[in-house]
Amino acid sequence: MRKHIVAGNWKMNKTFNEADDLVNELMEKLESTELDPNTLVVVCPPFPYLEMTSDYSDDSYFMVGAQNVSDQESGAYTGEVSAAMLESMEIDYCIVGHSERRAYYGETDEIVARKVDQLLKHNLRPIVCCGEVLEEREGNRQFDVVKKQITDGLFHLSADEFSNVVIAYEPVWAIGTGKTATPDQAQEMHAFIRNLIAEKYGDEVAENTSILYGGSCKPGNAKELFANKDVDGGLIGGASLKADDFLAIATA
Ligand code: 13P
Repeated sequence: MRKHIVAGNWKMNKTFNEADDLVNELMEKLESTELDPNTLVVVCPPFPYLEMTSDYSDDSYFMVGAQNVSDQESGAYTGEVSAAMLESMEIDYCIVGHSERRAYYGETDEIVARKVDQLLKHNLRPIVCCGEVLEEREGNRQFDVVKKQITDGLFHLSADEFSNVVIAYEPVWAIGTGKTATPDQAQEMHAFIRNLIAEKYGDEVAENTSILYGGSCKPGNAKELFANKDVDGGLIGGASLKADDFLAIATA
C-alpha cells in the first residue's frame, strides 16, 4: 500500500531560533497526535537547519527533506549542496523541480532529471514537482504540460529507480494564492499522472507511487482534497510554518 505523505516545504522562511522553536513544537505535538499508521510526516527546512531538524527524525513517521540539490556530483560549484552531502547527513527526501525553482532559477526538465539521478544514486527519495501555470490551465493545456514534465524529468529511470520517487502536483496558480484546485481538479490530474506511470512502468509501480497535492492546502480544505483516491497527501507551503495547522493537515 502506498504511503500517505504530508510534507512541509518551509521555503526561505524562519531564523534559526524560530526554526528550532517550530520543530520543537511540532515534535511535542506530534507525540500526542494520532496519525494514521500509514502516514509519514516530512519537514523540508532550509539547508542550514537540516541537521537540527534531522536530530528529531526517527526513521518511522517523521523524516527530513531538503528543498533543493545540485545536479553535479562534487567539485567547484560554489554555493551548491550535493546529494552526497545530504546522504552523509542522513537526509531522506529532497524536493526537485518546484515551480519557484523552475520560474526564478531556470530549472528545466533536463536539470530535474540530473538532480533526480544524483538523489537516487545517493539513496535519497526525490519529491518531484509538476504543475501548470494559470495561462496553461485556461488554455486547457495542463495535461500536456504535466505529461512533458513527468516524461522528460523522470521517464529515463528504470522501474526499480522510479519506485523511490514521490510526485507532487502543484498547480502554479494555486501556490501561495489562496486559490486551491477543487478536489475534482486535483483528482483528475492525479489520476492522469498515475495513468502515465502505469503506461510506462505498469500497474504495480503506478499503484505504489505516492502523488501529493500542493497549492494553498490548509486545515480547512485538506480533508476534502485527501479524500480523493489518487491524492496521497500534500506538499504544504504556508500552512507548514505553523505547527497546529501543519498537524491538522497531517491528521486529515
Ligand atoms: P502554499 O501551501 O503556500 O500554497 O505553497 C505550496 C507549495 O509551493 C509547496 O511546495
